[in-house]
Amino acid sequence: MDHFQIINGELHAERVPLSRIAEEIGTPVYVYSRATLERHARVFNEALSALPKKHVAFAIKANPNLAVLRVMQREGFGADVVSGGELARALAAGMPGQDIVFSGVGKLEREMIQGLDAGIGQFNIESEEEGIELAAIAAARGQRAACALRVNPDVDARTHEKISTGKAENKFGVPIDRAAGIYARLAALPGLDMRGVAVHIGSQLQHLQPLEDAFIKVGALIAELRANGQTVTHADLGGGLGVTYKAGEVYPTPAEYGAMVARVCGGWDVTLMFEPGRVIVGNAGVLLTRAIRVKRSSNNTPFVIVDAAMNDLARPAMYGAWHDFEAVRPTGQRMTAHIVGPICETGDTFAMDREIDALVAGDLAVFRTAGAYGATMASSYNSRGFVAEVMVDGDQFAVVADRIVPEAISAAERVPAWLD
Ligand code: LLP
Repeated sequence: MDHFQIINGELHAERVPLSRIAEEIGTPVYVYSRATLERHARVFNEALSALPKKHVAFAIKANPNLAVLRVMQREGFGADVVSGGELARALAAGMPGQDIVFSGVGKLEREMIQGLDAGIGQFNIESEEEGIELAAIAAARGQRAACALRVNPDVDARTHEKISTGKAENKFGVPIDRAAGIYARLAALPGLDMRGVAVHIGSQLQHLQPLEDAFIKVGALIAELRANGQTVTHADLGGGLGVTYKAGEVYPTPAEYGAMVARVCGGWDVTLMFEPGRVIVGNAGVLLTRAIRVKRSSNNTPFVIVDAAMNDLARPAMYGAWHDFEAVRPTGQRMTAHIVGPICETGDTFAMDREIDALVAGDLAVFRTAGAYGATMASSYNSRGFVAEVMVDGDQFAVVADRIVPEAISAAERVPAWLD
């Protein structure tokens, strides 16, 4: 459930008409609903209420905006970060270092140091090589880095191939059949405090079975590690829960997920850790856009050219993803159209032959479910700027990220003297 609804014929975010945001801030603009963010965080927490020891780390990559992170922090969430930049954001949002987990296959030396400086709660180690490097850095500083070993369970998450992470051919984690040996070797290093295992098999998951299959393998690994005399106090189950992008699609609910976790992992006697991203923020945001013009095509299906483009919302171009498209003031009339942006390549297409609310030039519309992997994946391609972000709270709203104009981007560029 979200708080984007038609009131008196116009789509609102909570109690703010979207036309008001368009008039004051301009378009395109991302609009987030605080009430929706809070609701999703609480529903997720509630779904895990049967678990005695748990830690929820919001996957910042899904939406790193500082105001969004502050909402997460107020809900008691820590952060899953994958770069020094994300780590700095988590700290800036007030998340305690202890509540931060650092994932990623390519952590740099300076990022490891940054994590140790911040006293983060856990590094998720993705290779033996990385563990050895971190151990040396921590030992040289007289520290022990708390770590989990990320395993690759070789499970097909049955999602888009570009966001599947748990198959043997994916770059993530260590092969689960080699994990016990690697864990023992890393645990013997004085710079590391090996405290558990981590797994994340992919994103936008529509089925719980692959997750359950992966968790069963992790449970067996934990038993094996303990039988070998290793200590295991934490198990990080990653993120991945899918959300509805297209009306009618059915996804597992957080409650169903929580019940599965309790059934499969409830007896592990560990702190269970979670890294949800999309399920918290996806449906808490829309991308508000304006139709620039409607152009007739050769076969008479019109192109609706909107002012948002693939650089603002990359998911349709990158993954062929569907985002529902709705008029801000629907008249009840419908049309079939192609929805495209202004960028000079055919990939800048949001939808082909889509039945949508009838629109004319100047009308406002939204792409739904744009709160996750939306603004954060933007680029400045075609020398377009970065769009503004707004958060709504009841009947008020605030700009939570300024629009970055193309001139601000080119101001960082230099023509060397030898070209003069
Ligand atoms: N933990 C780890 C280690 C991850 O790699 C990810 C996402 C998450 C947690 C959060 O997963 P979520 O709960 O959001 O599914 N750009 C793509 C999604 C990439 C996901 C990458 N990893 C998209 O727009 O669909």
